[in-house]
Amino acid sequence: MNIHIITVAPELLESPFSHSIMKRAQDKSLLNIQLHNLRKWAINKHAQVDDYQYGGGAGMVMMCEPLASAIDELQQEKKFDEIIFMTPDGDAFNQHTANQLSLKENILIICGHYKGIDQRIRDTYITKEISIGDYVLSGGELAAAVVVDAIGRLIPGVLNDETSALFDSFQDNLLAPPVYTRPADFRGMKVPEILLQGDQKKVEEWRYEQALQHTKDRRPDLLKGDE
Ligand code: ADE
Repeated sequence: MNIHIITVAPELLESPFSHSIMKRAQDKSLLNIQLHNLRKWAINKHAQVDDYQYGGGAGMVMMCEPLASAIDELQQEKKFDEIIFMTPDGDAFNQHTANQLSLKENILIICGHYKGIDQRIRDTYITKEISIGDYVLSGGELAAAVVVDAIGRLIPGVLNDETSALFDSFQDNLLAPPVYTRPADFRGMKVPEILLQGDQKKVEEWRYEQALQHTKDRRPDLLKGDE
């Protein structure tokens, strides 16, 4: 999968993709992430990419020309399956969207800054708008890192044990059951007996019941299907 990201702060995105599972995915050539500094397409020698908003009001708006030039140039080399804008007023990101995006071949992500991007870019180029939660970040970069991480780990071959993503929280709309490792007795707190008995069928049943109860307690909305 190829993920291109247009940003005014590429440094913000370097670290999240340089470690652990995201690094391994790139080392194995399962994931190719390319960061593009929007200032490369700035309108003048002052590296300007934003301007005051029409109608007045605080906050700068990212201009049409740099974004359009950047997207046009990248589109000449690749046909993107999705052009995503990270924005707090986008559709709420969830595991279902991560699953869907993990099946795409080429994705372009635009990170907003300041007050956002000119509406005309949203109207003409953007195919999907994503929010990672009901709060405002200072830019779309951290949100893009969250989305890329959630997608990247789903690409077949990225996780060592591919089945492990299947049992993540939110797959099947259930939160994950509790997990335990050694020792079996920690300061008098014992690991549930059923996990020690070696009966895999019983373990699976126990895990399912725990996941269901955990979801009922914490996120009953997931069980109603209205995530
Ligand atoms: N940019 C700023 N805040 C954001 C959010 N909550 N989700 C996605 N992009 C954002």
